[in-house]
Amino acid sequence: MEDNFDLTLEKIVNLAKRRGFIFPGSEIYGGLSGTWDYGPLGVALKENIKASWRRKFATSRNDMYELDSSILMNPQTWVTSGHAEGFADPMVECEKCKKRFREDQIEGDVCPECSGKFGSVRQFNLMFETRVGALEDSSSKTYLRPETAQGIFLNFKNIIDTFHPKLPFGVAQIGKAFRNEITPRDFIFRSREFEQMEIEYFVKEEEWQKYFEYWKDEMMEWISSVGIDMGKIKEIEKEDLAHYSKRTVDIEFVYPFGQKELFGLAYRTNYDLSAHSDGSGQKLEYLFDDGSRITPHVIEPSFGLDRAILAVLVSAYREQDLGEEVRTYLKLPANIAPVNAAVFPLVRNKEDITDKARIVFGILKEKGFRVQYDDNGNIGKRYRRQDEIGTPFCITVDYDTLENNTVTVRDRDTQEQKRIPIDELTSFLADQNK
Ligand code: GAP
Repeated sequence: MEDNFDLTLEKIVNLAKRRGFIFPGSEIYGGLSGTWDYGPLGVALKENIKASWRRKFATSRNDMYELDSSILMNPQTWVTSGHAEGFADPMVECEKCKKRFREDQIEGDVCPECSGKFGSVRQFNLMFETRVGALEDSSSKTYLRPETAQGIFLNFKNIIDTFHPKLPFGVAQIGKAFRNEITPRDFIFRSREFEQMEIEYFVKEEEWQKYFEYWKDEMMEWISSVGIDMGKIKEIEKEDLAHYSKRTVDIEFVYPFGQKELFGLAYRTNYDLSAHSDGSGQKLEYLFDDGSRITPHVIEPSFGLDRAILAVLVSAYREQDLGEEVRTYLKLPANIAPVNAAVFPLVRNKEDITDKARIVFGILKEKGFRVQYDDNGNIGKRYRRQDEIGTPFCITVDYDTLENNTVTVRDRDTQEQKRIPIDELTSFLADQNK
């Protein structure tokens, strides 16, 4: 029953806006194309996804080092990395209405907006230029980083000198990246400001295939753990490789607007470390105990956080026909849901019930759970509101609670209810959140 509905991107965008997950950027001024603002529930969802990523790929491991490097970097970084020269998309401009399009995304040779003719194809560099300091000359020009990865390569020597890691090891970083996309589209799928979660994993050259496969499996495991529908995941061997890559596998997802990239896994060889060694004059090498040196090769699992959020929302969205109404709910894993539980007093005009509900709410909040208190409208409406934001459990304080200190706990997916002693609520929720 629940799978038999038509999921459009519009439904996700509307729910995200209506319930305070994601709003269009600068909306009161008519917006700014390619920008989105995360509201309270969007922040919670994002933080939960980041926390799950950090737990799996950084804090639970012994071979991973975290980094939070600057968005602004010395402009030589981007010359050396090849981005100043090569980080571009082919672009065409309509000679009539002057609208610009990505050449590889249009069909036919007339403008889809006004049927005008296109001029010749040009390469458009996607990096945002900005100025550093008070001088407006060319020496002050730099860029907002288009990937977090370069911050990792520039800090390779710092990590080696301070932590003396054993090879193989990785550096993980979560942070904003910026690309002046020619045609941002499909909600948060392609925006101009977005967040990446990247790992550069340093290995011996002869071991790159082994670790490439290992990281593919690790990525798949995490994708499944955050509730992304594995039936919609496809692995695509890329033929058109980025300038730094010798092998790339794109992990694609079937979005409502088609099958497109979710995350990427690339073998970057030792391209970046070698280039930055030459560019900076600093030796970016790994020294073995026997005195031999190498420039390590790199496997790069790269995750777009906003695309993760979109895939999680698309995978969780459900409509269930209940006969007299359609119930919309988000079937999010408990540890990813923005709200862990909601607490309701059965009625709002009986003080001993509302007092008790406030106490239960306070206990859960005190223990660090993300809880909402709701006494608005009837219980059915309160359930629907929580279903729509994916809250796994609704806890109701009723007349029996006053007698025996138990509450009803209603499950989002099955809608079944059971009674649980208040004393056991925190361990029950903690178990569900593991
Ligand atoms: N360091 C490698 C790198 O940046 P990429 O394939 O260009 O590779 C990595 O980007 C990931 O960043 C993509 O798989 C995607 O999830 C995300 N991403 C890239 N461009 C994006 C955009 N304009 N909006 C949202 N996410 C984007």
